[in-house]
Amino acid sequence: MLSELPPAAAATFTVKVQRQDSRDSAAYFEAFTVARAPAQNIISVLLAIAEKSTNSEGKKTTPVVWDCNCLEEVCGSCTMVINGRVRQSCSAMVADILKDPEAQNTITLQPMSKFPVVRDLWVDRSRMFENLKRLQAWVPIDGIHNLGAGPKETPDHQTERYDISRCMTCGCCLEACPQFTKDNAFVGAQAIAQAMYFNSHPTGATLKADRLDVLMAEGGVSDCGNAQNCVKVCPKEIPLTEAIAKAGRQLTVHAVKKMFEMK
Ligand code: SF4
Ligand code: SF4
Ligand code: FES
Repeated sequence: MLSELPPAAAATFTVKVQRQDSRDSAAYFEAFTVARAPAQNIISVLLAIAEKSTNSEGKKTTPVVWDCNCLEEVCGSCTMVINGRVRQSCSAMVADILKDPEAQNTITLQPMSKFPVVRDLWVDRSRMFENLKRLQAWVPIDGIHNLGAGPKETPDHQTERYDISRCMTCGCCLEACPQFTKDNAFVGAQAIAQAMYFNSHPTGATLKADRLDVLMAEGGVSDCGNAQNCVKVCPKEIPLTEAIAKAGRQLTVHAVKKMFEMK
């Protein structure tokens, strides 16, 4: 099996894991030595670590905790910071990471820093889902009876929305965003893009004004500093900066409308 590895590859590598035993305890690093194997991704590395639960010093330790589900870069739950880059651990291949000479045969795994740590590499991403609730990121329907055919849409319109529909709420865009911090109210690029998704849906648009009210308030679009880090790290290549610009245009029209309504 090891013959499938590049000839110069070492038989083992070091994995440094940033660990945290509970939500409130202090973080610390623990190193593990893992054997190289073909087609090895970070999830298989974590499984190998859990199987032995013995660190590089030969001491027994607790298994490292992480979150994952789909194992095919669709659910977003396995997102973590791998050698300084936020990404999904199920699609991060060991061979690719260690190819970089700067890695020095070491992989460092850290939890995302913009969300509360539950334990080790497992973070609580509920803030993202709460933001989607605040923005009513859904298509409102009146009951479950047959409502007849939906409104007609052009393929171009569907294609435009499809791009944004691929968001998996992974959190990469928020981890990379300098404006999104643990303590502020900024909803971030992901929620803004989803608001635009539902505002451009013919039925979803019935809640457009409510969504724009949220995006106009504290933590809304004006908190974006336009650093454009979000769009660079999105694994689904969602046009986040275009969505933010669109939200800005919709908010201008919305603000003018509100001004006239007040008179
Ligand atoms: S453009 Fe910059 S500030 Fe705005 S959401 Fe993206 S990363 Fe954050
Ligand atoms: S917009 Fe991209 S980076 Fe942000 S949560 Fe969605 S898929 Fe992840
Ligand atoms: S386990 Fe679902 S994205 Fe990695």
